[in-house]
Amino acid sequence: GWTMAGFVEEAVPALRRQLEGARALCALSGGVDSTVAAVLVHRAIGPRLACVFVDTGLLRAGEVEEVQESLVGLGIELRVVDARDRFLAALDGIADPEAKRKAVGETFIRVFEEEARQLAEELGPIPFLVQGTTYPDVIESGGGAAATIKSHHNVGGLPPDLAFRLVEPLRYLFKDEVREVGRRLGLPEAVVQRQPFPGPGLAIRMAGPVTAERLERLRACDRIVREEIRRAGLEGRLWQAFAVLTGTPTVGVMGDRRTYGEAVAVRAVTSGDGMTADWARLPHEVLDRIARRLANEVEGVNRVVYDITSKPPATIEWE
Ligand code: XMP
Repeated sequence: GWTMAGFVEEAVPALRRQLEGARALCALSGGVDSTVAAVLVHRAIGPRLACVFVDTGLLRAGEVEEVQESLVGLGIELRVVDARDRFLAALDGIADPEAKRKAVGETFIRVFEEEARQLAEELGPIPFLVQGTTYPDVIESGGGAAATIKSHHNVGGLPPDLAFRLVEPLRYLFKDEVREVGRRLGLPEAVVQRQPFPGPGLAIRMAGPVTAERLERLRACDRIVREEIRRAGLEGRLWQAFAVLTGTPTVGVMGDRRTYGEAVAVRAVTSGDGMTADWARLPHEVLDRIARRLANEVEGVNRVVYDITSKPPATIEWE
């Protein structure tokens, strides 16, 4: 509403003052928060903002392209760093969820650090780092899942010669308000409505080790789940909806022979802030379409289950 229009009007000149004519760097994650933060700062300082997007290979189908297109549409140039092989190598043989998170986080910092150095060499000093920190991140930074949400941008892991001064223009906003600001700034609805997605990405949506083949399988499953949710007009009502590779071997039948595959779980929840969540009462027809498509269209999938636990006692993610 009008309050967010007021926010943009005040934030832009305030950012211009804060940044003192200097350059800033922003690492985009594909999520709403970092995208809106980048667009807001770009309004204030234009091309003095450098935007970096690390392609971890752990993202959803079409994500890199969508973010790039929407930013280009707003006159913002994005440097996409293809680090897919490095993340895959860092994750090689790791099955433990926390170890996966650590491997992704550390690799991210290293890649980001290299890119920041490169940019500083090309452009000159970059004293500021833009982060999409929101109010819930600030108040819940005491521990648990929320503390890890911004781990992608965890400047604490950067070496001292890359000591940035932080710019956090969304620090006092809630998610809905961030979305409203994004709309005001002209971001497409597909980006503004984007559901939260964990920093470690698809790596923590597959029980067991991460391989290129399993990533492809999960990406295909995830695309189908999201397509059917969107087609049913339910996207805006869900906090998250996604597929999980459960790591459970399962037997199926096709024609006159048995098939061996992996059970895929579908997870869809409603939530206000991600701290608690209720499993979504998706219409059976939607579940049916999802299950049929997953089994028919994705190689290696012959069984689909729907997760009907809420948080607590379950978490939203499986790992
Ligand atoms: P859980 O699974 O703990 O998730 O109920 C709560 C919210 O946090 C997201 N999540 C993460 N986000 N790094 C992130 O950036 C992580 O390691 C991580 N683990 C969970 C999850 O998607 C949900 O929105």
